Amino acid sequence: MTSSQRPDIEFDIHPSDHRVSAEERKRVMAVPGFGEVFTDHMVTIRWSAQRGWHDGRLEAYGSITLDPATSVLHYGQEIFEGLKAYVQAGGPVVAFRPQANAARFNRSAARMAMPELPERAFVRAIELLVRQDRDWVPAAAGHSLYLRPFMIATERGLGVNRPSSSCLFTVIASPVAAYFAGGVQPVSVWLSQDYTRAAPGGTGEAKCGGNYAAAFAGQLEALRNDCDQVVWLDAAEHRWVEEMGGMNLFFVHGSGAEARITTPAPTGTLLRGITRDSLLKLGPDLGIPADEAPISVDQWRAGCASGEITEVFACGTAAVITPVGVVKGSGQEWVIGDGKPGPVTMRLRDELLDIQYGRQPDPYGWIHQLC
Ligand code: PLP
Ligand code: COI
Repeated sequence: MTSSQRPDIEFDIHPSDHRVSAEERKRVMAVPGFGEVFTDHMVTIRWSAQRGWHDGRLEAYGSITLDPATSVLHYGQEIFEGLKAYVQAGGPVVAFRPQANAARFNRSAARMAMPELPERAFVRAIELLVRQDRDWVPAAAGHSLYLRPFMIATERGLGVNRPSSSCLFTVIASPVAAYFAGGVQPVSVWLSQDYTRAAPGGTGEAKCGGNYAAAFAGQLEALRNDCDQVVWLDAAEHRWVEEMGGMNLFFVHGSGAEARITTPAPTGTLLRGITRDSLLKLGPDLGIPADEAPISVDQWRAGCASGEITEVFACGTAAVITPVGVVKGSGQEWVIGDGKPGPVTMRLRDELLDIQYGRQPDPYGWIHQLC
């Protein structure tokens, strides 16, 4: 049976009997931070090798109890996604390209030897949660409801001869403000020399928790060097630029009517960002040609020195589009342009946000109405 022929997963609905009061919700949503506050409910679906996907539930947000010998706690078999729900002008709550997240979730699942979830069930789980917790979708400018679908291996046992025969898929939701506090401020980045995020044949293209666990040491190295974010270089030569902490990178070449953008090609070691993919389509439609092209650290520095590279920005669901102002590495440091947010960066940011918040029509079919 193909996934489109399989019957849809049924969800039992068990609304919470201990919801946060309207007053308390208003108080925490005024300054939500990022991923610190969670809504009243969550959606779960279980999988086992015998039964396939079953037991879909919407229930009160709460702890997940695991046996200490549960596989995920030892071997990190875990994947996740990140997407946002927005209130558009006039009231509809929408998600941005949730089917693309569902497809990437399944590519991550395949790499981590976990079961693929029918895309319809992934999107349905999000719809159910956002409809139930509609009051938690922030209306404040720049705020949104961050959705975090994830899947863990739940088999009890320490053997490593085969992957877990059972898994738990869960979606939780968190009202969020901007990922980087303080408005659109350029970030400073550190070129990591001591650490590598991903190598060919590894898990770099999968959105698995282990990639992020392994990245903390590099992020700490960046902070120790007074930088906001780490930039990962290729594993073999530590020369080619891959991506930033939780974001892809774009380089703006030239300016005005001549401006064009490039981003490193996804060669298996970087995450295929949905924001990145959207900008590769949006850019050309705005008259900004966009392409995938490798860039080395030397080319980045020389391009900034000659003025050929005028702006650099990072992009991702959490941080939308964030300018990069300063680059540092061992024994080197340079400023990009005048170190301030550039016009191409800000134009692409505004255009993308306008589509997400419904201030402009969506000619791409990216907007999915949730409620
Ligand atoms: N790269 C990494 C490592 C990420 O964690 C993310 C965030 O999801 C991105 C890039 C950007 O991906 P997206 O635009 O799909 O959020
Ligand atoms: C996202 O942009 O959704 C991310 O996953 C980045 C980070 C919060 C892990």
